[in-house]
Amino acid sequence: MTGLPKTAVIGAGSSGIAAAKALHERGIAVDVYEKSDRVGGNWVFGNSNGMSAAYRHLHINTSRERMQYADFPMPESYPDFPRHDQIAAYFDAYVDHFGLRDRIRFETGVERAERRPDGTWELETDAGEAERYDMLLVANGHHWDRRWPEPAFPGADIFEGVQMHAHAYVDNDALRDEDVVVLGMGNSAMDIAVESSEVAANTYLAARRGAWIIPKYLFGRPLDTLATSPRVPFTVGGRLLEKLVTMQVGRPEQLGLPKPDHRFGQAHPTISGRIHDRIQHGAVTPKPNIARLHADEVEFADGTRVHADVVIYCTGYKITFPFFDEDLISAPDNHIELFWRVFQPGIGNLAFVGLLQPLGAVMPLAEAQGQWIAEYLRGEYRLPSEAAMREHIARDMRAMRERYVSSKRHTIQVDFDEYLFRLAQERREGARRAAVAPPERLAT
Ligand SMILES: Cc1cc2nc3c(=O)[nH]c(=O)nc-3n(C[C@H](O)[C@H](O)[C@H](O)COP(=O)(O)OP(=O)(O)OC[C@H]3O[C@@H](n4cnc5c(N)ncnc54)[C@H](O)[C@@H]3O)c2cc1C
Ligand SMILES: NC(=O)c1ccc[n+]([C@@H]2O[C@H](COP(=O)([O-])OP(=O)(O)OC[C@H]3O[C@@H](n4cnc5c(N)ncnc54)[C@H](OP(=O)(O)O)[C@@H]3O)[C@@H](O)[C@H]2O)c1
Repeated sequence: MTGLPKTAVIGAGSSGIAAAKALHERGIAVDVYEKSDRVGGNWVFGNSNGMSAAYRHLHINTSRERMQYADFPMPESYPDFPRHDQIAAYFDAYVDHFGLRDRIRFETGVERAERRPDGTWELETDAGEAERYDMLLVANGHHWDRRWPEPAFPGADIFEGVQMHAHAYVDNDALRDEDVVVLGMGNSAMDIAVESSEVAANTYLAARRGAWIIPKYLFGRPLDTLATSPRVPFTVGGRLLEKLVTMQVGRPEQLGLPKPDHRFGQAHPTISGRIHDRIQHGAVTPKPNIARLHADEVEFADGTRVHADVVIYCTGYKITFPFFDEDLISAPDNHIELFWRVFQPGIGNLAFVGLLQPLGAVMPLAEAQGQWIAEYLRGEYRLPSEAAMREHIARDMRAMRERYVSSKRHTIQVDFDEYLFRLAQERREGARRAAVAPPERLAT
């Protein structure tokens, strides 16, 4: 017993391993529970956990420079936007490099995480084993529980073709010579519409709302590596990018896509280097939202109808924690109130990692969250009062509501540079608080 809390992490995806590494290197004993037989979560194509959304030709859409951990660069030989297998190999190498592999309990899913009366956590695994921990980190990912259209479209029950969610999409083999309707304007819809257009007879891209589609490159560089400053308000940076992107690829409505009902930066970025070309070549036909389904047709909101064999719903994901008692912790409509997206006020021995949607990549943010949690567990950082945390959360939520289009996909948004910058400030403030009043013991 080191006097430091015995800690468990649920999930060895890119967030869980980054947090485990941060704790491990600060001398905090950590057990990582991982359902799968390997690390990497979403990035393991065909993952044995059944939770990965990766398709055969998935490439990252945040550049490797943005995505890599600060102290473990991706190999120089990698392209700017590597494929899933390169990304998964990178996470494997990370775990070995930092000596974490023997901290991970592979093929061990957490079925239940119960908070006991003394505040400790009891984890029960799918093998029926139970173990207690002082501290619990949750890194179970938030892109695996499919969100279907709610409510289902009228006629969904009589449509005779295939209806599938993007999560089940593997490759375009089954789409050859078919009439395909892809619904959504997020990144899944972009990738799948492009892949469909390579083999399908017809591909229709339906959307209830327009989006600014950002190319992967600007001025010959991955767009997300262009210098940004956390001190420049998003309204200023956003307007500039809106101009630059429009100059390069035109406005969405010039492609026949719905006109965005928001300014650039007010929705999670839709990134595609290829959709413009596919639409301009007539290989993808934009359509408004689906209104209803018929036996072998899809009818759109403008009254037009097309023959359809396959409808692919790229309608996003739900944030869920199947191992928690819902009354204690849940995220109805993807809403969850966390201090800096990590701590739930009132439960000091619980932290979430990677539960955010950055304009930019998740990994460096999960890495910073892990370092922050390590400081907290070592007593080098003290959380503010519960009231102050709730106030901070309320401000944060208000700012997000004011900035983003109202949608269940916009509940955990952060700006990459600003988050890192402000979290570093918070860590310094909490270190000052800890110096004045040392933190209390956890879980008591
Ligand atoms: C198609 C797609 C493409 C994406 N592209 C990008 C991109 O280019 N850049 C980017 O930054 N982000 C991207 N994302 C976001 C994605 O969420 C992150 O890249 C990354 O996967 C987040 O890592 P994570 O560890 O939080 O979650 P995951 O990768 O989902 O890992 C969660 C891990 O937890 C484990 N687990 C879950 N429940 C349990 C349990 N009960 N017990 C034990 N283990 C459990 C799972 O087995 C898994 O290994 C993409 C998402 C999707 C769906
Ligand atoms: N290549 C890549 O790196 C890549 C590929 C795929 C996904 N991703 C990432 O994976 C995550 C999930 O992306 P995603 O595209 O699957 O989901 P998403 O970003 O949540 O987008 C869902 C889309 O479906 C629409 N939608 C939801 N419900 C609808 C309904 N009932 N009727 C009509 N439209 C509806 C949404 O519209 P509203 O905006 O109106 O809600 C939105 O356009 C994101 O972080 C994304 O960046 C990355």
